[in-house]
Amino acid sequence: MEQNQKNTIEIGFTINGEERVIRTKPGKKLLDLIREDLGLTGTKYSCGEGICGTCTVLMDGRPVKSCQLDASIVENKEILTIEGLSGDGDEELHPIQKAFIEAGAVQCGYCTPAMILRTKWFLEKNPDPSREEARKAISPILCRCTGYKKIIDAIMLASEKMRRE
Ligand code: FES
Ligand code: FES
Repeated sequence: MEQNQKNTIEIGFTINGEERVIRTKPGKKLLDLIREDLGLTGTKYSCGEGICGTCTVLMDGRPVKSCQLDASIVENKEILTIEGLSGDGDEELHPIQKAFIEAGAVQCGYCTPAMILRTKWFLEKNPDPSREEARKAISPILCRCTGYKKIIDAIMLASEKMRRE
């Protein structure tokens, strides 16, 4: 990370598989870097206080609440947002995305990008979970619509799909 006389900083990192160097204002939150500087609006702002989890992205494969982090933390790291989930140039949805649609786990959709990214992290370390394990795994993310049953259904369906692939 470099700072120059115009009081901006340069941050080098990888986002959705692409290496980028972004010049931005010091003190910017990671969520704002993603939404404003990169235009990736799939990552959502809600509480801004680290409570709801809708701003979740994966940093080096682990879920983080991007509204709580200074953007400079991503220097030399890999970030995955919902836009990068299907892979470079791949129009096919990821099995987790398909499972959320098939299980009816998307209502307003506001929490869905965070739920899907957290599910990806979870299923990579636990490919054949119980419903209770799935429920605990997504508990840091609040959904105001579904009552969670369909989201757990979607995680179980995604785990089946991914084990078959
Ligand atoms: S917007 Fe980040 S935790 Fe709620
Ligand atoms: S689907 Fe609406 S907040 Fe979760």
